[in-house]
Amino acid sequence: MKAFVLRSYGSPDVLELTDLEEPVPADDEVLVRVSATSINPYDWHGMRGQPYVARLMPGYLGLRRPKVSILGCDMAGRVVAAGQNVTGFCPGDEVFALLPHGSFAEYVSVPQSLLAPKPKNLSCEQAAAVPMAAITALLGLRDQGRLQPGQKVLITGASGGIGTFAVQIARAFGADVTAVSRPPNAQLVRSLGATEVIDYTTQDFTRQGQRYDLLLDIAGSHRPRASRRALKPNGSFVAVGGPAGRWVQPAARIFSALALAPLVSQRMVMTDTGGSGEHKTHLATLTKLIEDGKVTPVIGRSYAFADIPDAIRYQEQGHARGKVVITM
Ligand SMILES: NC(=O)c1ccc[n+]([C@@H]2O[C@H](COP(=O)([O-])OP(=O)(O)OC[C@H]3O[C@@H](n4cnc5c(N)ncnc54)[C@H](OP(=O)(O)O)[C@@H]3O)[C@@H](O)[C@H]2O)c1
Repeated sequence: MKAFVLRSYGSPDVLELTDLEEPVPADDEVLVRVSATSINPYDWHGMRGQPYVARLMPGYLGLRRPKVSILGCDMAGRVVAAGQNVTGFCPGDEVFALLPHGSFAEYVSVPQSLLAPKPKNLSCEQAAAVPMAAITALLGLRDQGRLQPGQKVLITGASGGIGTFAVQIARAFGADVTAVSRPPNAQLVRSLGATEVIDYTTQDFTRQGQRYDLLLDIAGSHRPRASRRALKPNGSFVAVGGPAGRWVQPAARIFSALALAPLVSQRMVMTDTGGSGEHKTHLATLTKLIEDGKVTPVIGRSYAFADIPDAIRYQEQGHARGKVVITM
């Protein structure tokens, strides 16, 4: 099978398109022919080994070289074989999953505990846009943010991969959404359910005098200390991401929010989706929202499999509109 292999850290040029043996599923695994995948910041952090501080933490970055050889955590495809202990999936089933790694390949062997049936009303290309971004939005709003119907939520980074899901999920939960975005994306975020849009190129949301119940901070454009000005005294700040850096960002932005937690009246928390959790129940929740027509993936760009390095080059500029997907 064809796969993009990572042997050392570096720019997208280090990804090597190689022929490998097809994986053989273990007893509790399912072999899936990948139809589509998508790009997340998680992939290029893994490719570059940055931020460097993350190499010292438990996780998927090795200290001197990558721990994983095939990147890619979003996957949608078709089951081709199942191990002898697999009960819920048969060859031909269409599935999707959030994987720890491995979807930048034609086939991947996946523990059945990670797999979920693909939403019926989505193509594989659309389904591959969902796992990492939509689960992060769901966990940030529902679990960390404890969002309630009627609450006012401010979402930064609203036009990107996570943001386009977050705006729709917050609306589906009955919240009133203000999106922080640029003029070219204002129409998009309004169409997804935002009632107000703050143009971050000319306005500072921390100095607008508005106070929100929840701030889902995907862009991390302001220090959390400043962002608190936009929160009600009993509001919640959920740190999701921030500007990329070689040494510590976006981790520093997130940790500074957590450091404030014991000192302030607001809840200062973070969300950490990672690629290794078992997110099947979250995928089921998202499937219901998608099949009910409340959430639809926004695909900004689509690339062919051979162009994964170009897709990563585009995504790591930090201004993607919706999701960047790859079709096989
Ligand atoms: N905590 C977790 O579990 C978790 C999981 C996944 C990802 N993340 C992190 O979350 C962040 C976003 O991920 P993503 O997949 O959504 O990335 P993305 O698709 O690249 O989207 C980022 C968005 O941020 C917008 N943006 C940039 N600067 C902004 C600013 N100053 N104010 C408001 N919006 C701004 C960009 O829109 P413009 O074109 O308008 O600039 C872009 O649409 C990254 O830092 C990523 O590492 C965290």
